[in-house]
Amino acid sequence: MYIHCSDQELVLLKKIAAAAEALDMPSFLIGGFVRDKIIGRPTKDMDIVCIGDGIELAHAVAQQFNPKPVVHFFKNFGTAQIKLANIDLEFVGARKESYSQDSRNPVVLAGTLEDDQNRRDFTINALAISLNKANYGALIDPFNGISDIEHQVLQTPLDPNITFSDDPLRMMRAIRFASQLNFTIEEKTFAAILQNADRIKIVSGERIADELNKILCCKKPSVGFDLLYKSSLLKIIFPQMVELAGAEYIDGKGHKDNFYHTLQVVDNICAHTDDLWLRWAAVLHDIAKPATKKFEVGHGWTFHGHEVLGGRMVPKIFSQLKLPQNEKMKFVRKLVELHLRPISLTKDNITDAAIRRLLFDAGEDFDALMTLCSADITSKNKQKVKRFLENFEMVRVRCAEVEASDQLRNWQPPITGEMIMERFNLPPGRIIGDLKNAIREAILDGDIPNNYDAALDFMLKKAAELGL
Ligand code: CTP
Repeated sequence: MYIHCSDQELVLLKKIAAAAEALDMPSFLIGGFVRDKIIGRPTKDMDIVCIGDGIELAHAVAQQFNPKPVVHFFKNFGTAQIKLANIDLEFVGARKESYSQDSRNPVVLAGTLEDDQNRRDFTINALAISLNKANYGALIDPFNGISDIEHQVLQTPLDPNITFSDDPLRMMRAIRFASQLNFTIEEKTFAAILQNADRIKIVSGERIADELNKILCCKKPSVGFDLLYKSSLLKIIFPQMVELAGAEYIDGKGHKDNFYHTLQVVDNICAHTDDLWLRWAAVLHDIAKPATKKFEVGHGWTFHGHEVLGGRMVPKIFSQLKLPQNEKMKFVRKLVELHLRPISLTKDNITDAAIRRLLFDAGEDFDALMTLCSADITSKNKQKVKRFLENFEMVRVRCAEVEASDQLRNWQPPITGEMIMERFNLPPGRIIGDLKNAIREAILDGDIPNNYDAALDFMLKKAAELGL
């Protein structure tokens, strides 16, 4: 076997080979599994291509197991899947494809292994391993995919203009693989992405989102985002991010390039978290800087309120990028809105009240917020970084102290709306909300302690003032 497989994988491949031989159906292991085995990445999706009917082969393979696994098959596509404990098998007949101008869905005809390898996206994804008796385990590499793996290069088997025009999602895949594998995109291949970028518009938003999320899951997503920017794909799929690029100068004063600053923040945060949504918060934290940018004479560039406007932009961007409109989106919005708060607390204004408000507003996302804020420190001015880090550390310490005494992170008000209604025999109404808010503000400002008795006392006084 050209590639190194586990014992379990070898047993499985023997079963597939036996079933294929019994059906007299030449079969090959192909695509991502072969690529990842050679590179040494973990992989659990095995793609099998056969010269014949993939669904028939899948059923024959399933027969070899006891108990027999379920075969999921899709007659229209001629594909079948078997999900085993820790590996997914996919079977398909070798095919030739021809594409029309306006769709990613090809007209599919049966073909040879060579036809099938020709239609694949990259040379490194067109590698096949024979499962046939005559040359079991041999590598079939018509486009020098092995050499491209060695040289860490991504290129298409055929003319890249055709490969990308046929299926424009492959442009995103090229950039995603470059980012995941730290490969470079060969020059003509990259030129073809630039030339075909506009065709990304025929790809569904969901598929684009999948690729964006995969880029964001990389160790250094900046590689992928920078390639998306340079290939002009980003301008089409996520124009707000492109708006961040560039620095303007007035009276010799410039501001930083917020696109590259954002990429730096994203890379920074990736060293500290695998949480995709926290990574999205890093992508979006300064998204409203272009819209809030002003040059104030004697002061320089300002971006007042960019955190508030940025927060408001999050739902629209999530919907545009086909990201979920749920708690994850709310989390990202909250972090964008709060991202200046910890660092804006300086030595002179770290009052208990300010700390309490931060703990209350961030709630259970406090640690995530602090991770975002640390990642946001990208200044090249060492003095500035030192000052920020010192302030920041102080905020952390003070937050820990206040949290230990007040427990505001998962704060439940000591007096609820129901309690107020019951006490004064009132129906739901504005006055209930006003009383609740007054109690919360008094606790956060430190006017009263965070407990039931103090809150009740305060409420009775406040109610008397209101004539209740
Ligand atoms: N493929 C392709 N064009 C696409 C998608 C896939 O040519 N737009 C081919 C490639 O040969 C690829 C194989 O189909 O290797 C399997 O596709 P898929 O499972 O989506 O990707 P992998 O390469 O396995 O990688 P990943 O799982 O990381 O997406």
